[in-house]
Amino acid sequence: MEDVVYTARGTPNIALIKYWGKRDEGLILPKNSSISLTLDGNAETVVGKAFKLYTTTSVVFSHKINADFIYIDGELQDLSNKAVRDRFAIIDILRGIAKTNAHAMVVSKNSFPTASGLASSASGIATLAYIASNALDLKLSERELSILARRGSGSACRSIMGGIVKWEKGEAKDGSDSFARQLYTHDYWPELLDLIAIVSEDKKKVASRAGMAQTVATSDLYRKRLEIVDGYAAQLEKAIEKKDMDVMAEIIMKESNSMHAVMLDTSPPIMYLNDISREIINAVHEINTASGKRICAYTFDAGPSPHIITTEHEKERIVDRLLKVEGLQSLLLTKMGKGPEMLQESDALIDKSFAPMLK
Ligand code: DP6
Repeated sequence: MEDVVYTARGTPNIALIKYWGKRDEGLILPKNSSISLTLDGNAETVVGKAFKLYTTTSVVFSHKINADFIYIDGELQDLSNKAVRDRFAIIDILRGIAKTNAHAMVVSKNSFPTASGLASSASGIATLAYIASNALDLKLSERELSILARRGSGSACRSIMGGIVKWEKGEAKDGSDSFARQLYTHDYWPELLDLIAIVSEDKKKVASRAGMAQTVATSDLYRKRLEIVDGYAAQLEKAIEKKDMDVMAEIIMKESNSMHAVMLDTSPPIMYLNDISREIINAVHEINTASGKRICAYTFDAGPSPHIITTEHEKERIVDRLLKVEGLQSLLLTKMGKGPEMLQESDALIDKSFAPMLK
C-alpha cells in the first residue's frame, strides 16, 4: 500500500440551493441543506480562454518522509498555519482511521483559476478525500466520503458524487447525519446545460469561510433566509422531478439573489457581483420575458461569474445574447458529470524527480 502513488480527478459543483452559514464551524455543519449539480470537467469553450474543470490530485503515503507536503498548483501549502491545516484535516482523520503514522505527499493541479468563484476548494477537497482514502485502502462508502470531504470544505461534500446532489444539513451535534446524497445520476436529464460566463479571473476578496461567518454574526435578513431556504429546496426537488425548467429557473434565481442579499446585509457588506454580473442578470430576465416562460436561470456562488442553467434546445439564443455582453472573458459550456474518478499511473503528478526523498 505505502509508497504507491494514487491519482484521481474530480470536478466542481454549482449550488442551486446555496450553503452560506454554519451551525458548527469546527465540524463544518451547515445552517441549511443545499442542492447542487456536479459538473462535467470536460467543458467546451464557446469563446475565450479554454478551461477544463478538473482538479487532478496525486497522493502517496510514506514512512520515508518526515512531514506532510501539499502542493497546489505548484505552491507548497504552509501547514504551520492553522487555517491551512484545517483545510487538510482530512489527512489526519484518514491516518487515524487507517491507524498509520505515514506522512502524505499531495500534489494537486486545477485546470481552472483557483479561488475565482469556480469552486476550486470543493473540487480540490473532494478529490483529495477520494484519492487519499483509496491510497490507504479504506473502502469508505460515498456517505462516509462526503462526511470526510465536508470536514475540509462544506461544499466539497457535494462533489463526492455525480449528477444532482443534496447535502442534508442533519441535526446531530457530531455531524454524523450531515452528508451528501445523490438525488439523480448525471444522465437523468441529458439536455440540462450549464453555461459558465467568466467575467473575472481575479482571486476573490472575501473568502467564503470568513464571509459566511460574518453574515451569520451580523445579518438580520439572514434569519429570514433560514425560514425560507428549506422550502426552496423542497420546491426545487419537485421541479427537478418534473423537469420543469420554468419553475426551476424561478427558484434558482430567487435563491441566488437571496444569498447575495444576505451578503449585502452583512456588516461590512460582502459584494461579489460586478457590473458585468448585473448585466447578465438583466439579459437572462430579458430572454425569459421574451420567451413567455423561463428557459434559463443565473446562479452566482462567491464570485462575479454566473452559471447559466438552461437546456440544449435553448442554447443558441442564450449564447448569442451572452456573447453581446461587454467584458465577458470566457464562456464555457458543460453539463452534469459523474464525480471523482481514478486515473492511471501515467497520469500521476508525483514522480521520483519531484520527490527525491521518496527514493
Ligand atoms: C457560495 O464550501 O467554500 O459556494 O465550508 O467554509 O469551506 P467552507 O465554505 P465553502 O462555501 C461555499 C459557498 C458557496 C455556496 C455553495 O457552494 O453552496
